[in-house]
Amino acid sequence: MKRRDFIKNTGVLTAGAMLASPATNLAGFYAPGNKKKVAVVGTGVRCVFMYGRDLLRDYSDYIDLVGLCDINPGRLRFAREFIGTGCNIYTDLDELIRNERPETLIVTTEDSAHHEVIIRGMELGCDIITEKPLTIDEIKAQAILEAERKFGRKVIVTFNYRYPPYRAKIKELLMAGLVGAVTSVDFHWNLDHSHLTRYMRRWHGESNRGGTLWVHKSTHHFDMINWWIDSDPEEVRAYGMLERYGIHGPFRGKNCRNCAHTGECPYYWDINGSAVDKGLYADNEHYDGYVRDNCVFRPQIDIHEKHSALVKYANGAVLNYSLNGDSDHSGYWLAFNGTRGRLELRMGGYPRKEDVDLVFMPNARTTNEKAQIIKAYHSEGGHWGGDPLMMDKLFKDPTMPDPLGQEAGTRDGVMSILIGVAARKSIAQHQAVKIAGLTELTPMVKRPV
Ligand SMILES: NC(=O)c1ccc[n+]([C@@H]2O[C@H](COP(=O)([O-])OP(=O)(O)OC[C@H]3O[C@@H](n4cnc5c(N)ncnc54)[C@H](O)[C@@H]3O)[C@@H](O)[C@H]2O)c1
Repeated sequence: MKRRDFIKNTGVLTAGAMLASPATNLAGFYAPGNKKKVAVVGTGVRCVFMYGRDLLRDYSDYIDLVGLCDINPGRLRFAREFIGTGCNIYTDLDELIRNERPETLIVTTEDSAHHEVIIRGMELGCDIITEKPLTIDEIKAQAILEAERKFGRKVIVTFNYRYPPYRAKIKELLMAGLVGAVTSVDFHWNLDHSHLTRYMRRWHGESNRGGTLWVHKSTHHFDMINWWIDSDPEEVRAYGMLERYGIHGPFRGKNCRNCAHTGECPYYWDINGSAVDKGLYADNEHYDGYVRDNCVFRPQIDIHEKHSALVKYANGAVLNYSLNGDSDHSGYWLAFNGTRGRLELRMGGYPRKEDVDLVFMPNARTTNEKAQIIKAYHSEGGHWGGDPLMMDKLFKDPTMPDPLGQEAGTRDGVMSILIGVAARKSIAQHQAVKIAGLTELTPMVKRPV
């Protein structure tokens, strides 16, 4: 289904949000002729596609890309060429801001550096649009909250997982009270081996750089649950295991390009077969030692593949969550149990191209409604159609109405990572861990607007 048809067919709230007036642009910073000056920090793969190539192609009437910054000068040059921009490139963030005066910094560095760029960017007068996760631990999260208060700038966390139309539909249904008060949520997400090895090969496999998948990946999932049920997490009990990768491998090599086991390794990957990966990473690893095709059996890997957690929410709901990375299957299963009934969704494979069936099963004792399938419409674009919708809101018309509260700020970013942080602590300490006290944020029964 095309996006235009989707707008015609979907609920009023979502359509209203997406159609919201080009006219409001005219009053905003982003009006044609009054373009916003943006710069991107961290020129890896997320930057060159979404915030580089796509940004210039689709939003040049609204923004000026005035600079790119990365610690790796070779990757910077490749990124500028790939994106097709003539903007200046910098290895020094202060210099970029001093010379180019961007109003907004887009942060796409590796996760462990987000806080440095966010805080320094705000200090030098920029608003921030940052990729998830906001940061990787509670100390950096607290520092970001304090800096935001001190410098008075705006921070948006790009939770694109909130934007796919069928997830917006779930939010609408929950807001409308379809299941009543949510009492528990079942959410089980599978990453297949090819997806998981993309993490294991690079910095994501090392907890001090990606915060483990409890933070790097699950931040998306925990944020969606916080947003859908509109309450804050209070306490977490978790288990996590690493059994296949890292030291558990049967053999290991320096990296895939220099390995004696390419014939027998099920995870061998030829980086030279991808012009973009070779140009961004392999050709420039002599600058900073960033190896993109690291061995998935290297001993430095200290994250988990299997993740299981119970999260108690301030409104009394309980989340039963798992992230299973040791699987040949990708997809997920999600269900909300409530006082009026149960709303369920199964998603297999990725990416998905068809419309989505949401199944509602009423509670026989509280209502005499019949079970029903509620159609939610597919729309085109990255991450189940969410990326282009979020990009429109960010760059075309930031003032468009947001009735579902899809735009996220630092509080959402912090609350979502704190579940992962608490899960890591719970595993280490063999006990439940409270969210209160990790940062200044106090869990609330209903999330503040
Ligand atoms: N929302 C999503 O669906 C989604 C998808 C992919 C990636 N991401 C996020 O985007 C970010 C980038 O991911 P990626 O896959 O492009 O990673 P990447 O490793 O390809 O790129 C990160 C870049 O950051 C640079 N860098 C590291 N420290 C820096 C610093 N202090 N200053 C400037 N540059 C620095 C590295 O040199 C590298 O070029 C991550 O935070 C990731 O979580 C989000």
